Amino acid sequence: KRKGFIFDLDGVIVDTAKYHYLAWKKLANELGFEFTLEQNELFKGVSRKRCLEILLEIGDIDATQEQFDRWMIEKNEDYLDFIDKMDASEILADVPRVLEFLKTRDLPIALGSASKNAKPILEKVGLLSYFNSIVDGNSVTKAKPDPEVFLIASSNLNVEPKNCVVFEDAIAGIQAANIAQMTSIGIGDSDTLVEADYNFNDFTEMSDSFLETLLK
Ligand code: BG6
Ligand code: MG
Repeated sequence: KRKGFIFDLDGVIVDTAKYHYLAWKKLANELGFEFTLEQNELFKGVSRKRCLEILLEIGDIDATQEQFDRWMIEKNEDYLDFIDKMDASEILADVPRVLEFLKTRDLPIALGSASKNAKPILEKVGLLSYFNSIVDGNSVTKAKPDPEVFLIASSNLNVEPKNCVVFEDAIAGIQAANIAQMTSIGIGDSDTLVEADYNFNDFTEMSDSFLETLLK
C-alpha cells in the first residue's frame, strides 16, 4: 500500500492563526467593534471571504459589494505585512522532523490549505521543497468541510484517499478528511478535535514509532 501525507498549513506547519487574528481584529476595531480570540476559533480553516462574512455578522454591519471587496483586500494587506517578516523560526515544533521522516522514506507529501498565501509562506520559512503538491485556496472551489482540497491532493499524489493521512488543526479540516475516508490526525486540543482518528497537542508528542504505524 502506497501511503500519502497531507498537511494543513495555518496552525499545523506555522502559527499564522495569530496573524490572521490580528489583521481581522484591526479591521473590526476600525469598523467600531471588538473581535476576540474565542471568535477567531471559528475562522480556522475557513476561507477569507467566509471569514469576512462572519466578521460583519459579528459587528452587525451591512456592507456594499464595494466595501466588502475593499475590506477583503485591506485585511490581506495587513496579513501580508506580518508574513513578510516571517522566517524559519516560526515553523511549529518538530514539523521539520516529521517532514524529514517522510522524505527520507520517499513518501509523497502534499499541502491541503484554504489559504491563498500558502506558497509564499512555505517559501519564506524554507519548507516548500518538501512538498510534491500544493493544493491551496487558489485551486479549490469548495471550502472545508467539503473534502475537495484533500481529494485533489490525493489525486495529485496518485494515492487513494483511504491511504492518505491528513494533519489538521481545524474542526472543518478534520471533518473534510473524514468525509474523504482519509486517516485524520488532529493537531491541537483533543476536546475541540474530537472527531479526529488520532489526537496530538503538537508534533513533539508524535513519536517516530507512531509515524511508522501510519506507513502500514
Ligand atoms: C486557512 C486559515 O488556512 O486559510 C483561515 O485557517 C484563513 O483562518 C484561510 O482565513 C484563508 O487564508 P488566506 O491566506 O487566503 O486569507
Ligand atoms: Mg489550519
